[in-house]
Formats: sequence, structure tokens, C-alpha cells
Amino acid sequence: MSAASLDIHLTDEDLTAALRTDVREGLAAEPKWLPPKWFYDARGSELFELITELPEYYPTRTERALLERVVGEIAELAQAEVLVELGAGSAAKTRLLLEALSAGGPLKTYVPQDVSVSALTAAADQVSAEFPGLSVHGVVSDFTATLDNLPRGGRRMIAFLGGTIGNLVPKERAEFLAGVHDVLEPGEQLLLGAGLVIDPAILVPAYDDVAGVTAEFNRNVLHVLNARLDANFEPEKFAHIALWDAEHEWIEMRLEATEAVTVSIAELDLTVDFAKGEQLRTEISAKFRPEGLESELDAAGFTTERIWTDPDDRFALVLAERR
Ligand code: SAH
Ligand code: AVI
Repeated sequence: MSAASLDIHLTDEDLTAALRTDVREGLAAEPKWLPPKWFYDARGSELFELITELPEYYPTRTERALLERVVGEIAELAQAEVLVELGAGSAAKTRLLLEALSAGGPLKTYVPQDVSVSALTAAADQVSAEFPGLSVHGVVSDFTATLDNLPRGGRRMIAFLGGTIGNLVPKERAEFLAGVHDVLEPGEQLLLGAGLVIDPAILVPAYDDVAGVTAEFNRNVLHVLNARLDANFEPEKFAHIALWDAEHEWIEMRLEATEAVTVSIAELDLTVDFAKGEQLRTEISAKFRPEGLESELDAAGFTTERIWTDPDDRFALVLAERR
């Protein structure tokens, strides 16, 4: 048995209620859209882990190598007693941080947070087994809804890795960073991992791999709607699209109906028509410039202490202090 505890602030019923609202709004909009958090049921979380191992998907291995290089400096600057990690997923890279923060440092508690209860339970249990001296306390919640249920007390660092910040649209991003600011005390820190703007010839294949794993991840949102809302999407009738939006500097993932389709969503008593070629936006993955990250953090009340980048300038880790 594991010593990790789990706080569920988002039950299965809460998730279904939130999905109902998002589907009613997003599928009635022109163009249609859905928020990316709906990819992550148990299968979606597994597919994301497979993505991180794809040859084309450079972000995870780039951030890992960067963390390996600079984690000692981060630990030295942070002196954290509590590490809170938002959107922790499998927390694979977090082991590096946990080792560095606990090696002679004051780290006592790790708080992984995620909307995916399966990913979170597995990560919390594994970390707890690997770090017997650490108190591990998982939180199931939606970081776009509230951060108020994160524990307080002890000197905290909030980590938000993987470039997940880029999955928020600019307004959500500003609200999210303001929310992180509000839950921290002055002097506490945020460690942010963010993908940088690079050549689209490298970026686009990272979101459109040859093996088709990202396509399956993208279509997983339709399986989630089928399972949770008793919808009858035929996912194979939707093609995966990944394109680089040079104006907004983000990758956009969409699902395109390959023929005219009428979908019934029984739980909502709703019928939705897709014309042949009609697209549903499922995710943006914004890429950043270091100066843009610094100014967004500044606007939210953070002072950037250090920015580290990998040798190819593909990914950044930013350590910022809450003013
Ligand atoms: N941090 C990990 C995982 C990134 S994948 C890494 O760097 O590899 C994105 C993670 O964020 C997933 O585990 C997903 O379940 C979670 N997530 C996405 N939207 C979320 C939301 N609104 N609230 C909480 N977790 C969310
Ligand atoms: C979780 N997030 C940072 C990933 C990304 O790169 O935007 C999700 C993902 N979407 C497609 N591939 C991976």
C-alpha cells in the first residue's frame, strides 16, 4: 500500500457536468472548439506518455536534458520545503527536481496536481514508493477553474512543466498566472517550462508524427465525449490536423470531418452537424520568446530570477519569484 494521500476536488460527476457545459458552448460555436483538458482520460494520459517518446516530439526530452543540467542551480535558488506541481501527469521529469530539492535541502512535501485521476494516482504512488522520506499529497482539480484548494504552509515552489502553459489561450494564461500569484506568498517561486518559437519544419512534425500517435491522442477527445455524454462520434471519420499559426505563434490541432456527419449527444439531447471538411479546434500549443515569458510573468506579479534554455533554444525553464 502507498503512503500517498489524494484529495479529490473534482469528482466524476463534476467532470461530466463541466464537459456538458463545454460541449454545449464549444460545439455551438463557429468555428467549433473544445478545451484540451478533455483529452486526458486514462487512455489520453497513456497516449500522451507515448507521445513523449516519439522521435518527432522533442519537448519532453529537451526539457529533461535541460533540467538535468540546471536542477542543482534551481534547488540552490529555491530552498523549497513544498513542491507543488500543476498538471503533473506521470511526473517522470519531476524525479530530477525531487532528488535535487531533497539532497541536503529542506524538501518535505510533494503535491502533484492533475485533472486525470488515473495519471495522478499512479504518479503519487510511484513517487511515494521511490522517496520514502517525502510526504506525497495528490490533488485532483482543474487548474483553469481554481487553485484555492492547493495546500498552504511551508516554503513553496510551484512547478508547471512540459510547456502546458502553451495549451492556454492568452486570456486564460493571464488569469492562470494571476491565480498562481494569488496562492503564493511574496518570495515563493514558480518554475515554468515553456516551448520556444522554433523552425516550423521541426515544430509541425512534433504534432503530426509518422506513427499517428498524436492523431490518436487528438481523436481521443471524441471517445471521451462518447463515453461521458453517450455521444455517437465515429472518430475514424475525423482527420488529424496540426498547423503552425505564424501570427499567434502557436500550433493548432484540429479534427476535420472527412464526410458530412451528424452526431447525436444523447446525454445533452443534442444533435450536431459537421459539414464535410468542417474543423473542430481541440488544442493550441503556444510557443514563446524568452522576453515574452518575462513580460507575461511580470504582468502577473512575478520577477524573473533566471531563464535557462537548451543549446538549440527549443525550450526554456524560468524561475520566477512572486512579488
Ligand atoms: N507535466 C507533465 C505532463 C504534461 S501533459 C510533463 O511535463 O510531461 C499535461 C498534463 O496536464 C496532463 O497530465 C493533463 O491531465 C493535465 N491537465 C491538462 N489540463 C488540465 C487542467 N485544466 N487542470 C489540471 N490538469 C490538467
Ligand atoms: C501537454 N502539452 C504541453 C502537450 C503540447 O505539446 O502542447 C500536449 C500535446 N499535444 C499534442 N502533442 C502533445
